This record gives sequence, structure tokens and C-alpha cells, in this order.
Amino acid sequence: MKRNEVIEVKIEDHSFPATGIGMLDGKKVKIKGAFVGETVSARAHQIRGDRAKGRFIGVVESAPYAISAPCIHYGKCGGCISQHVPMDIQRKFKEEEVRKLFMQNDLSMGEYLGFTGDDDQYEYRNKMEFTFGDEVKDGELNLGMHLRGMKNSVINTNQCLLVHDDFRKIHEYTINYFREKNLPYYRVMRQTGYLRNFILRRGINTKEIMVNLVTTTQIDFNLDEFRDGLLALELDYGLMSILHTESDSLSDAVVPEKLNILFGRDYIYEKIHGLTFKISPFSFFQTNTKGAEVLYHEVKNLIGEKKNEIFDLYCGTGTIGQIVSDKADKVTGVEIIEEAVVAANENAAINELSHVHFIAGDVKDVIAKLQGSPELIILDPPRSGVHPKALEYVKDFSAKEILYVSCNPKTLVIDLRYLIEQGYTVIKSKIVDLFPNTPHVECVILMQRSGLKDEK
Ligand SMILES: C[S@@+](CC[C@H](N)C(=O)[O-])C[C@H]1O[C@@H](n2cnc3c(N)ncnc32)[C@H](O)[C@@H]1O
Repeated sequence: MKRNEVIEVKIEDHSFPATGIGMLDGKKVKIKGAFVGETVSARAHQIRGDRAKGRFIGVVESAPYAISAPCIHYGKCGGCISQHVPMDIQRKFKEEEVRKLFMQNDLSMGEYLGFTGDDDQYEYRNKMEFTFGDEVKDGELNLGMHLRGMKNSVINTNQCLLVHDDFRKIHEYTINYFREKNLPYYRVMRQTGYLRNFILRRGINTKEIMVNLVTTTQIDFNLDEFRDGLLALELDYGLMSILHTESDSLSDAVVPEKLNILFGRDYIYEKIHGLTFKISPFSFFQTNTKGAEVLYHEVKNLIGEKKNEIFDLYCGTGTIGQIVSDKADKVTGVEIIEEAVVAANENAAINELSHVHFIAGDVKDVIAKLQGSPELIILDPPRSGVHPKALEYVKDFSAKEILYVSCNPKTLVIDLRYLIEQGYTVIKSKIVDLFPNTPHVECVILMQRSGLKDEK
């Protein structure tokens, strides 16, 4: 096997995230996006000793369980890679991958409460962040997702099945409008162009939509006509917020520098578990509302008896802290995005929860100054996991229980190992699928303090 050689591998095993494993030339080859039972072609790379990696090219022979993927973008789009795997098998694979990770790290899952999630496999997303670009050099303007495995190519995903029909209508109108105006998209390498991203959000239980166009300031284009066209669309939901974000940042990610309100408000509302949440344009909110309802239900179930105080670390717009607030005399949340914290505190006021407060800042800094002795600390960090410094402070609080909600089992197991070394034990665990058709998954882990070192 040589670097860049096209290889064919029969996938016999798998690991997180949706990484197929097969043997070839005496080497264990790992290929992301390949599933057990398939024979796939891939380009070999990172060949070391008895191991190698392959970059997925295509399926040569389908698995016996394969179904035909319903979305016309499937295969090209880097968004959903497992549409051809029936939902029950997708979930079985995800469950196996998480359980295997725990086993490989010598970690117990405690009492394993199983795998759950909302049943909607399509149209579940409440947020979509599309990119302007083209598929081939100097090709037609597109708005959508990156071509699978190609960061510089963007395909027009106007028929995406993960979103609601209103999003598809808005998408179609927007790409046609900007194609007609012949405006250039922003090229990160050349640092020139105007159109960058297009972010759609919706409150599923409130039927509210937010549209946010992200551009540079390199062209002074009047967006009134674009706004009026959006308002004239016949939609099922109410278009409550049309925003224009200006960003000249050199980064590929959306870095908001100035926000202009073209219509309505600069937020939308969502309702979950009977509580109201104000969602601002750049705040985190779980992208699958119905799935999040299931997740939060599981979180609440695991909490058990009422606590004196709960810390909700990495709290976003304060969803978890507020949903579990009837299980505590006091809840304190910490979140790095200031606008999310402003919204979280407003949400607590709207929901008449005077014992719930949110603080803006990096958890690793804020936690050092936090007062109190919480009986429960909830951790729901980004994919990178909890910062080691923050984890040390978490341990120092000696909370009776820690409830870890994780969207990345790989960093979860690292953090759990540390907490176990510090005297915690995994008591219960549950897996929740918030992202059908993708390799991602949420884990909820309840830990209890047992024989703390400090107490010895
Ligand atoms: C997985 S989300 C969880 C949000 C919330 N618990 C929820 O369910 O909606 C992680 C959150 O952590 C925030 N975050 C990321 N890094 C952080 C840090 N260093 N300190 C505080 N918050 C951070 C993100 O902005 C995001 O809102």
C-alpha cells in the first residue's frame, strides 16, 4: 500500500465517529464515513506499521441493509453521510461506537439506560448555516454545504431534507436573487468578495423564523429589495427577524462584527418543556428541538431528589438550568457568549425563575471565583470537552454529583477518567440521538462522589 493509492477495503468493524475499519495487506485501515458490511474505495494515507487511513471515495459494494437515500444531495453533500443506513441500524452503530470507546478506556457506563431520541429522521433541524461559494473554480454561485471531503467546494443544497420546507423556499429565493445580482462570494484565500454565509433558525414550537445574511463590507449593496422579496414569500412559519451581519474577519468561521436589523427583531422565541427561550442570532441552541426535548427530559430524570444548588456550566441560553430549576433552590449558569447570557437571564425573568442566574465568561476563569457548595454540577461543554483547569476547579467543589452532557464521546472519556481519578464513579448513562443521518450523538452521564481523596 502506498500513499495516495486507491484501495478497496471490506469494512468489518467500526469506531466513533462513523469510521469503518477493515484489513488490507496486513494493515488495519480506518476510513471515515464507511459502514460495516460495505466494500469501499478510498485513497490511502497515514500508512504507519500495521495501520493506515483511507479517505473515502465511494461504495463499491453496498451492505445488505442499505436503502436508497431520499435526498437528492446525498453523496455529494458533506452534511449527511448515513442516509443509506436505516435509522435503527444507524442508532445501533452509534451505540456500539460509544460503548466500545468506554470499554477501550476501561470505563464503566454504570447502569446503562439505553439509547433514545426523537423519531423524526428528516426536517428536524431548527438551524442551518449555509455557505456561499462554487463547486468548481469560477463556477455558478452556490449556497449550501461543502462538497463531501472538499472544503473549497460548495454545492447548492436547496433541496436539503434535514430542514423544513420554509427553509427550502427561503434558500431557493436567496440563491436565485444573488445569482441574478451577480454578486461575488467571499474567497477566504484571496480575501475578496461579498457574500459569506446564510443562517436560518426557527422556533419549532413558536413557528418563528430568523434569517441572517452574512457579508463583508467590501460592497455597499442595498438589501431592501432582498428583504422585501423574503417578506413576500408564502411561508408556513412567521418571518420574525431578518438580519444582516457584517464580517470582514479573515476566519472561515462566522465572526459577527456588526449586526443590522433589516426587519423585525434580532431574536426569535422557542418553547421547550413549557418554558420560553429567547434565541439571539449567535447563541448556541440545540439544533434539533424535538431531540433536545428528549435530551432534557433524560437530564431531568437523572437528577433525582431536589438539590440545594446546581451549577449549569457551558449553559448556552440557559436551557438546562431553567428546565431543571424546580429541582434546586438555586441555579447558577456560566457561558462564554455574552449575548447568550443576556438572553439566558431574560429567559429566566420571562419564566419567572428568580432563583436562576447566569454569568458571562470562560468557565475556566469564572469558576475560580464562583461561591457556593453545589450538590450537583452539570457540564455540557463544546466538542473539545472541559478545559483541564476548569475540571480541576469542578473537582475542588466536591459536589455530590456531576452530570456530564457530551456531544463528543472522545473528549467525554478523557474528562471522565480524570473525574474518576478524583473519586467520582459513573452511576448511570444514557445515549440520545439528536443528529440522525450524521455520526454525532449525545451522551448523558451521571457521576457520584465516592470516597473523595480530600475526605480521607
Ligand atoms: C454544547 S453547548 C451547550 C449549551 C446548553 N447547555 C444547551 O443545552 O443549550 C456548549 C456551550 O458552551 C459554550 N462555551 C464554549 N466554550 C466555553 C467556555 N470556555 N466557557 C464557557 N462557555 C463555553 C458555547 O458557547 C455553548 O453555548
